[in-house]
Amino acid sequence: MIIYNKKLNEKNIQELIEKIKTGKYTEINESIIKKEIIKEIKNQPNIIDKITQKSVQTKIIKKIKTNLYRGIGIFNNQKSLKTHLSTKDRNYNTLNKAINLIENHTPIQSVVDLGCGLNPLSFFKLNIQPEYICYEINEKYVQKINEFFNENNIKGIAYSKDILTLSKLPNADLYLLLKLVDSIETKKGHKISETLINKIPSKYIIISFPTKTISGRPMNVPERRWIKLMMDRLGYKYEIISDDNEIYYVITK
Ligand SMILES: C[S@@+](CC[C@H](N)C(=O)[O-])C[C@H]1O[C@@H](n2cnc3c(N)ncnc32)[C@H](O)[C@@H]1O
Repeated sequence: MIIYNKKLNEKNIQELIEKIKTGKYTEINESIIKKEIIKEIKNQPNIIDKITQKSVQTKIIKKIKTNLYRGIGIFNNQKSLKTHLSTKDRNYNTLNKAINLIENHTPIQSVVDLGCGLNPLSFFKLNIQPEYICYEINEKYVQKINEFFNENNIKGIAYSKDILTLSKLPNADLYLLLKLVDSIETKKGHKISETLINKIPSKYIIISFPTKTISGRPMNVPERRWIKLMMDRLGYKYEIISDDNEIYYVITK
């Protein structure tokens, strides 16, 4: 690969990928790590000549890990770590109630589930059977979901992608962002969520949040005030459905 007239060896990129893909970064898709490496090298192309030096590698690996940690937010805080396997806590009756609010207006024939985790494995707990498209950064989940879809002849597919880097999102009747927003936010407010919500080419979106604190106690105020403010500002309507575990905002654009 040529970057600003300098040749970057594929072998060197692979070596960096292997060194980054350890610990909590193990399950991040290689292509996402590669993109991050190239981005970083483009920022400082003169390191290409020194890329085999240990001190240079250590520095760039640290920088890339920080970028992945912040930008992708995969395990970026205790909260997302705790709610990572959240699917098993979910009461699907409540989610179905949220879905029914939409079905009362229009049949849902296609769903996009962003940052889906293992939620698609509960496909048969849903009271709809749409075409089901999933995006998830965790490769192992994606593999598991695709196997499950194939074994059960479900019309669906999971992609291993960082949703924050997708240039175009597919059309669908409904988008699900279940317990996702806390994982993609940075400390700098809700701009990332707003950009994503705006980009979604669907009239209906269900966004959910946990209603328990990290220690498992019910939240005093489970509603997210910023969502209300954002919806009012953007002129989107919403209804709330909730239970002891999760609060769902059923948004109509
Ligand atoms: C708290 S879990 C919720 C999983 C699922 N939506 C549910 O509620 O059952 C958040 C999920 O979002 C995924 N995720 C976080 N940031 C992502 C990103 N930028 N692109 C794709 N997936 C992401 C994580 O890997 C994790 O599986």
